[in-house]
Amino acid sequence: MKTISATFLLLVLGGMLVFITTCQSSQPTGQETEEDLRSAALLYQQYCATCHGTDLNGGNAQSLVDKVWNFGDHPNYITRNIKFGISHLGMPSYEDILSDEEIKEIVDYILDAEKKSGIEEPGVPSELESVEYRIKSEVVAEGLEIPWSIVFINENKAFVTERPGRLRVIENGVLLPDAVSGTPEVLHSGQGGLLDVAIDPDYSQNGWVYLSFSHEIGQRPGDSRTAAMTKIVRGKIVGNTWSNEQVIFEAPHETYKTTRHHYGSRIVFDPEGFLYFSIGDRGHSNDAQDISIPNGKVQRINRDGTIPGDNPFVDKEGVMASIYSFGNRNIQGMAVHPETGQVWSTEHGPMGGDELNLIEAGNNYGWPVITYGRNYNGTIITHETHREGMQQPNYYWNPSPAFCGLDFYQGNLFPKWKNKLLVGALKYEEVKLLTLADDRVIHEEVVIKGAGRVRDVECSPEGAVYVVLNDPGTILKLTPIAEK
Ligand code: HEC
Repeated sequence: MKTISATFLLLVLGGMLVFITTCQSSQPTGQETEEDLRSAALLYQQYCATCHGTDLNGGNAQSLVDKVWNFGDHPNYITRNIKFGISHLGMPSYEDILSDEEIKEIVDYILDAEKKSGIEEPGVPSELESVEYRIKSEVVAEGLEIPWSIVFINENKAFVTERPGRLRVIENGVLLPDAVSGTPEVLHSGQGGLLDVAIDPDYSQNGWVYLSFSHEIGQRPGDSRTAAMTKIVRGKIVGNTWSNEQVIFEAPHETYKTTRHHYGSRIVFDPEGFLYFSIGDRGHSNDAQDISIPNGKVQRINRDGTIPGDNPFVDKEGVMASIYSFGNRNIQGMAVHPETGQVWSTEHGPMGGDELNLIEAGNNYGWPVITYGRNYNGTIITHETHREGMQQPNYYWNPSPAFCGLDFYQGNLFPKWKNKLLVGALKYEEVKLLTLADDRVIHEEVVIKGAGRVRDVECSPEGAVYVVLNDPGTILKLTPIAEK
C-alpha cells in the first residue's frame, strides 16, 4: 500500500463515525442456551469489555448493540472480524486466544444483547451528510430483482439490469413496468446472470447498448454440469425490443468453467473509444496468471469486437490478444477518469485485500501470487504481498468491504466532488468517496451506510448520484440540499 499517515487513518475513522447515518439489523442465530450466554458474557467481560464497554455500549471502541455494523452485519462477518481482527483500527485478532466455539458464543451473545436493546432499524435515509454537503436521498425505483447496473442515456432516461435477465427502463423518474423484450438468455445462477449495461460513447448517433452476462454452453463430457463464461453483446433498443444484436466478445468454449462465481463484468470506454471489460477468475485463481485464457483479466477490444492493433499481447504467440491486464481476481467496479482517461478498477480480494488499481497495458496485478488477503477459512494463500514485476494496488482494504460499482463524480450538482471516486460496497453496505492525488488515495469518507448492499453507483449527466441497492432492489437518487 502507498503511505498512509496516522492522520489519514484518523480521518477515515472519524469519517466513519460521523457519517454513518443509518444502520442495519442482524438477528441472533436463536440456538443459544442461557448457559452459553452466561459463559459468553464472562468471555466478553474478560476480552472485550475494556474497549467495547461492560454493557456493550461502547467506550474506547464502538458500541456493539447500536445496530451499526461498520464491517458487515452478517454473523459470519462479525465472527471473522473477531477471529482475525481489524488490525489497522486497533481491533485485536482472537484467532490464537479463543476457540471457534467460544467466538460463536460471543457472537450469539452480542446479537442477543443487540436484539434486547430494542433499537429500531431505520430504513433508507431521506437525508445524509458528507463532509461538504447536506444531501437529499430519494427512492426512484423499488421492487427490482437483484439490480446490478444502471446507465443513463440522458438526464431523464436510464437502463437498469436485473440479474435474473431483465433490462429495465427508468423514464422521468418512473420504472416502466415492462422489461425490454428479446435480450439474450443468461445463466442466472450463483453470481451470474445479466450483469453490466453500458452505452456507446456515440450512443446519440448509433444507439448501441452493450450488455455483459454469464453465457452457458452445454455440458461437456467429464464435466459435472454446464459450463459458462462472461460474454459481451451489443444491440439497439427499438420500441421496447432488443434488436440488431452483435456478439462483441465470446471466449473459446473450451475455456468455459463449471463454477458459478467471479464473472467480473464491468464495461467502460476510454476517451479514444476502446472498450474495456473485466472477467473474474471464475474461481480458478491460478488461471489469472495464464494469458492464454480469458478469466482473471481485463480485456480491451474495439467496439465492434475486433482487437486493437496496439494491445499489449497482440503479437505474442499462444496468448489471447484481447487481454490488456492480468492477475485480476474479480473486478466489479470500473471507471474512466474524466480528465486523464485512465481506467481504474476495484477488485474483490479473498478475505481482506480488496484493491483499487489503475489498470495499465500489460500489467500483472499479482493474483494469486501476491495478495493482502487470506482464504475465507483463515488459511494463508501466500505470504507474499510484493513481487518484482507485479503491481501493488494503489490502495487496499482489510477486512474486505466487497466493492461493486465505481464512478468518477462528474456533473454540476456536487462541484466539490469533481473527479472524486464513488465506490460502492456490498458487505459494508456503503458508498465511499475517495479523493485521489494523481494515483494516490489521500482521503476516504463514507457518504451512505447501512441502507443496503450496493451493487452500482453512477452519476447522471446532470450530476445526481444514483445508488443501486441489491436487497431489497432499490435505486436511490442523491442530490445536494446545501453546501456546508
Ligand atoms: C483494544 C480494544 C479492543 C478490544 C479489546 C476489542 N475490540 Fe472489537 N473493535 C475495536 C476497534 C477499535 C474496532 C473498530 C472500530 C471502528 O473503527 O469502527 C473494533 C471492532 C469490532 C467489531 C466490528 C464492529 C462493526 O461495526 O462491524 C466487532 C464485531 C468487535 N470489535 C468485537 C469485539 C469482541 C467480541 C471483542 C472481544 C473478544 C473485541 N471486539 C475486543 C477495539 C477492540
